[in-house]
Amino acid sequence: MKIFETHAHYDDEAFNEDRDELINSFHKKNIYAVTNIGADLAGCRATMELIKKYDFFYGAIGIHPSDVGDLEAFKDDEKALNILKDMILSHERVVAIGEIGLDYHYDDTDKPLQKKWFVKQLKLARELKLPIVIHSRDAAMDTIDIMKHEHSEEIGGVIHCYSYSKEIAKTFLDMGFYIGVGGVLTFKNSKKLKETVAYAPLDRIVLETDSPYLAPEPNRGKRNSSLNIPYVAEEIAAIKGVSVEEVYNTIWNNSLKLYNISDECETKH
Ligand code: NI
Repeated sequence: MKIFETHAHYDDEAFNEDRDELINSFHKKNIYAVTNIGADLAGCRATMELIKKYDFFYGAIGIHPSDVGDLEAFKDDEKALNILKDMILSHERVVAIGEIGLDYHYDDTDKPLQKKWFVKQLKLARELKLPIVIHSRDAAMDTIDIMKHEHSEEIGGVIHCYSYSKEIAKTFLDMGFYIGVGGVLTFKNSKKLKETVAYAPLDRIVLETDSPYLAPEPNRGKRNSSLNIPYVAEEIAAIKGVSVEEVYNTIWNNSLKLYNISDECETKH
């Protein structure tokens, strides 16, 4: 039984006290692969350090919609994109571009700026033929419109921390995307996500935590880590009426496909 954590932020300062100790405990808990996801520019650089340090870590490099100011600050779009591109091409275990997308949750959102950098990073992903990790909150229609316009179905990826309806999930599944499911599934008020998990085929779901955020019950509100994945896997197994082993095995393979990780790479561990 092997667990693939498809979305975590171990560069976050919440892990400063015990990062190495925590990460070194993962194999004992069957966690054999982790994708660390960049959100801002500093996070991308820290992600590169983590994948160099741990051979079972993979990286996603990209700028979160709330942090696109980091790219705008260069006042030279090409230069900003080249900084991302250089990082991505510098290591074979950078397996995706993300997290990128749209987040309209806050009233002061600069929508045109978010859209601009979403499009540019989608184009970069197509150029480099890398899957994308999508962050989309309160912005389903714009996200879908832009992804369709940019032919994102040709590169695929994951809708991270999926938060929309099962009807919208059908649109993303039809485009070939995976649905990222984490701690929210265990919350009492997660009816929509439970419906989506019931609806989506198991071979199109991946496990994630978004650590240090969104810890599942019974640890809700505390610092999250990949060690909490079993709570989510058990919930998926209950909804699907299958064993937890089947959930882990199917999702391990889904995750390899999502990030285009070859068996050869996998057997190194
Ligand atoms: Ni995240």
